[in-house]
Amino acid sequence: MTGGFPIHLPVMNTLRDRHILLGVTGGIAAYKAAELVRLLRTAGAEVQVVMTHAAGKFITPLTLQALSGRPVRDELFDPEAEAGMGHIELARWADAILVAPATADFLARLAQGRADDLLATLCLASEAPLLVAPAMNRVMWENPATQANVDLLRARDIAILGPEAGEQACGETGTGRMREPEALCADLQRLFAGNALAGLQVLVSAGPTQEPIDPVRYLGNNSSGRMGYALARAAREAGASVTLVSGPVSLEPPEGVQLIRVQTALEMRDAVLAEARQADVFIATAAVADYRVADPRSSKHKRGDGPLRLELVENPDILAEVAALPEAPFTLGFAAETDALERHAREKLVRKGVDMIAANRVGPGLGFGSEDNALEVYWQDGHQSLPRQGKDRLARALVRLLAQRLGRNPDQLCTSQLHAQD
Ligand code: PMT
Repeated sequence: MTGGFPIHLPVMNTLRDRHILLGVTGGIAAYKAAELVRLLRTAGAEVQVVMTHAAGKFITPLTLQALSGRPVRDELFDPEAEAGMGHIELARWADAILVAPATADFLARLAQGRADDLLATLCLASEAPLLVAPAMNRVMWENPATQANVDLLRARDIAILGPEAGEQACGETGTGRMREPEALCADLQRLFAGNALAGLQVLVSAGPTQEPIDPVRYLGNNSSGRMGYALARAAREAGASVTLVSGPVSLEPPEGVQLIRVQTALEMRDAVLAEARQADVFIATAAVADYRVADPRSSKHKRGDGPLRLELVENPDILAEVAALPEAPFTLGFAAETDALERHAREKLVRKGVDMIAANRVGPGLGFGSEDNALEVYWQDGHQSLPRQGKDRLARALVRLLAQRLGRNPDQLCTSQLHAQD
C-alpha cells in the first residue's frame, strides 16, 4: 500500500496479462479449481497450475491443463519441466500465488517454511504476494493448531481468504468451505488495483492519424493503438482518471476510460489541447502524421484522371504544443527510431521540451502493430531500460516509472488490503 492515498477499489478488470500461479492441494474443494482457472483465463490472466500429489486424487491434471492451456506442474525434481521453466524461474514468473483450496496440512507446511514439494518450495522462493483459500472440515479449521498456523501466516502478510460457513462435504455444517471462485477472482482483482496515480488526470494519445487525400484515400501509418490503449488501462489501474484521444484503430475501448475518437492530426490536436489544460500528465503515444495533404479533393481521383500530385504541409507538433502550455502537465513523449535510439530520443526530449521520453525501435515486426515492445526511457539526468514484454505488462512498468518520477510511491502489491475483507 502506498501511504497517504485512498484505496482505489477496482471498477475494471486488472487481471489482463497477469501471471497467476494457482496452487491446488488435496481436498474435496479441489474441483472448484477448474472454475477458478476458467474465470481467471476469461479475465485475461495467464495461469500456471501447480498441484500437490494429494490434489491429483481429487481432480486430474488433464482437466486443469486443458483449462489453463499450460502443462500442470507437480514434481520438484522433474528434469523435463525444469529444463523448460525451472522452479526458481517459475517463482519469479508469478505476479501472485493463490493456493485454492489450501488444506490444513498445507497451511501447517507453509507456517513451518517447508520446501518438501514443488508448491511449498515455490511459496518459499517467490517474492510475489501469497494468498491462500483454506478448505477443510470445520473441526480441523477450529483446531488450535490450525488457528495458530493461520495467525502466523497472517502475521507474515499472507492473505487468508475464507473459509466460509455452510454445509460441508462431510455432512457437517460450519466454517470450512472454500471461498467461491468468483469471490477469489475478485480478491485478485482488488490485489492488483493500485493507487500510485490516484487523484491525477491522465491524458493519453494513441493510434495513427489518417490524413485524407480524397473522400476514399488517406495517408496513414501502421500504429495499431495497442501501446497507447495499454497505457490508458495501466494508468486507470493505478487509480488515475484517464482520457484517451485515439486515432482510428480496431481495439475495444479500455474499461473506465473516457474515449475521444479522432481521425486527423488537426482533430487530435484540438481534442488534446482541449483536455490538456485539466490534465496532470500527458502521455503521447500516438503516431501523428507529420504531414497532411494541403488541399484534399472533394471527389474521388480516378485512374484516368492523370498523375496524382500531392502537396504536403507540416502538421503541428501536438506534444511540443502541450509541453509549451503555461501550466503544462507532466509530459511523457514517445520516440519511434530505427537507429541511434539514445541520441535521437534525447534530441527530441530537449527540442520538444518534454519531461520524459520513451524510445522504441521501429521496423519490420518492431514497435508498430507488434504484440510486444521494449523501451529505453530517458529524462534529463536519468535513464531506465524496460525489457521486451507484452504491451500490457510494459505499460504497467512504464506507469510505475512515471509514478516514481512524479514523486509517488509506485504500487507495491500488498495483501493487507485483502485482510480487512477476509
Ligand atoms: O500503436 P502500436 O501499434 O502499439 O505502436 C506503438 C508505437 C510504435 C506507435 C509507439 O510505441 C510509438 O513509438 N509512438 C510514437 C510514434 C511517433 O510518432 O514517434 P515520433 O518519434 O515521430 O514522435 C515523437 C513524439 O512526438 C511522439 O510522442 C508523438 O506522439 C509526438 N508527435 C509527433 C508528431 C506530431 N505532429 N505531433 C506529436 O505530438
